[in-house]
Order: sequence, then C-alpha cells, then structure tokens
Amino acid sequence: MHPFSKTILDWYACYGRDLPWRRTQDPYAVWLSEIILQQTRIVQGMEYWKRFLTRFPTVQDLATASEDEVMRLWEGLGYYSRARNLHAAAKQIVDLGAFPTTLEGISSLKGVGDYTAAAIGSICFGLPAAVVDGNVYRVLARYFGLETPVGTTAAKKEFTALAQRLLPPQEASAFNQGMMDFGALQCTPQKPDCLTCPLQSSCHAYRTGRQALLPVKKAAVKVQERHLSYVYVRFNGETAIRKRPAGDIWQGLWEPLVTDAGISPASEKWFFAKPCEKYFCEDTLYLLRKGVKHQLTHRTILADFYLWEPAERPQLPEDYIWIQETELDRYGKPRLFEKLLEIVGPSRQ
Ligand code: ADE
Ligand code: SF4
Repeated sequence: MHPFSKTILDWYACYGRDLPWRRTQDPYAVWLSEIILQQTRIVQGMEYWKRFLTRFPTVQDLATASEDEVMRLWEGLGYYSRARNLHAAAKQIVDLGAFPTTLEGISSLKGVGDYTAAAIGSICFGLPAAVVDGNVYRVLARYFGLETPVGTTAAKKEFTALAQRLLPPQEASAFNQGMMDFGALQCTPQKPDCLTCPLQSSCHAYRTGRQALLPVKKAAVKVQERHLSYVYVRFNGETAIRKRPAGDIWQGLWEPLVTDAGISPASEKWFFAKPCEKYFCEDTLYLLRKGVKHQLTHRTILADFYLWEPAERPQLPEDYIWIQETELDRYGKPRLFEKLLEIVGPSRQ
C-alpha cells in the first residue's frame, strides 16, 4: 500500500465524520445521500436526507410517489433535473427488483455518474472503485504537485488513474470516504491545516509553499446574465401559475407569469411578451423589486418582481391555472419564485 493511502486510512479511522448515512448498509439510503450531497453541504444535506427517508422509507415509496411531491421535497436544493432523475432511477431500481450491485449496474441508473457510482459501489458493496471529486483533486494535486488544470479531460484521466492506483482494494469504502473527509476537514480549499497534517513531511505543496496555487484551475468562463420579469397576480385570494414545460432546469416546477422580454408601458397599458404574448393588463401593476440577483451555475438572473391586482378576473395565458394562494406551498417552485413570495407577503383575503 502506498504510504499516502495508509496515512489516509489511519487518519480516517481517527477523524472520520460520524454521518448518519455511514451507519446504514441500505444502498437506497446511501444512494439518496450521494445524490443529495452532489447538490449541497453536509449539514443541509442531512436535513433533506432525513426528510426524504421519512417520507419515502423505501425505494418503492419513492418510485410510486408523484413527480410533484418529489419536486416539492427537493425544493431549495436547486438543479431540479437531479430530482427528476432521482425519481426515474427509483422506478428503474424497482423494475430491476433490487438495487444493482455492480459498477455497470449502478452507473446505468439515471443521474448516477462515475463519481456517484464509485461512491455507492465502494460504500455499499466494497467495489474497488476510486471516487474523484473536488476534494480528491485538491488533495492529490497538492500532495503530488500535479499541475494539470482541473476541469479538463486530461486532468480527469490523470487524477482518476492516480486515485485508482492509490485505492487499497480491500478498503475502498474507508479510503474513498477518508479522501472526502480529509479534503473537507484537513486539506481544505482555503488555509489547509498543514501544521497538524500527517502527510506534511512528504507533501509537495507544503514543501514548496504552494498550497494556495494548487490545484490549478482552468480560466473561468464568464457567466451570462438574463433578465426576467415575474408577475404575481392576485385576484380574489387566488393566483395564477403554470408548470414549467420541458427544456430547462426549472422543468416540472411551477412559476407565476413570467417574461424575458421585459415589461414596458405601451399607451398606458402594460403588456407581457412571450410566453404571455399580447397579454394586456391595464390596471394595478406594481413594481415590487427591481434587479433581484439570483445566481445559477452558469448564469446570473436579474429579476424584476411585480404584483398585479386586477379589478376583474383576467384571462390567463395558455397553460396557466388559478389556484388558491393558500395552496401555493403544495407546488414545487424555483427558489426565485420563493423569493418573490417572501416579498409579496401572504394574501390579505
Ligand atoms: N460527499 C459526498 N458523499 C459523501 C460521503 N459519503 N461522505 C462525506 N461527504 C460526502
Ligand atoms: Fe494538504 Fe497541507 Fe496536508 Fe499537504 S500538508 S496534504 S497541503 S494539509
């Protein structure tokens, strides 16, 4: 065994975190934790994990749930395609009759990539597959002094091969989770704790003082800005929403009237453009907040929030439905819609 691997295993035995999904052997529960942790930090992830397991104790429960309910439980985690994949994968598992126990089988589940397959495979079935995530890149880049920019195919190949060589086949679970925890607690992105580090004497970054320069990052791509106007309509204690159609990250979530073409006064009338084309509202449209910033992975959204209180019940654009405002929490919503609701406040009806 490479001395690096031995040190990671010893360190993990001493300092590994006591996390609830490490106390179970149930692959369903472990899979759920890995999908949630792709999306959020441990503390928040734990809440979601418990909530999911309480509501869906078995994979059958998840598979037979409605998509709306799964989306609603996922709400706040973002990246909603993951929730849809989760639901689809639950159905796959039920169809298979049992949780798959090979790397190929696990990888064939929707939403399960190399990282997640290796994590589940090693943790649940002792499969000798190394996980490679941001933590692993960082620890290996620093310890071995690797300069290949992360995020490139070359780096993926190089770091995966190295992690795989370092992985002790009999202790795949402990090594993988040891790498995760070591990266999260000891060799942290900022200010790694080199002074107490058991790898210090043989660490390239420590020896050369290059901790802050490793791992090397690829030049960042500029995030795009997108402007959206959201209109919360309030009539008679009701509001209008629609289910976002297929095509983007908000698919399957519910949204209020929204346009990306801006709202402009035209001969004393306000109108929406797509998807609410030629849709006029003549009265009471209030601008609540302008330029609310919302950060997504690859773009920044600047949203204007409006409240519209028409005197008469307006025709709704296609796909929109009226619902009681008090029923809103039954619908899965993008975070941005939640922000709008916080600003609009509860109905006074
Ligand atoms: N992040 C993703 N999977 C994890 C795990 N099993 N333990 C700790 N952090 C993780
Ligand atoms: Fe990371 Fe510092 Fe330990 Fe090297 S000595 S592995 S940089 S914590």
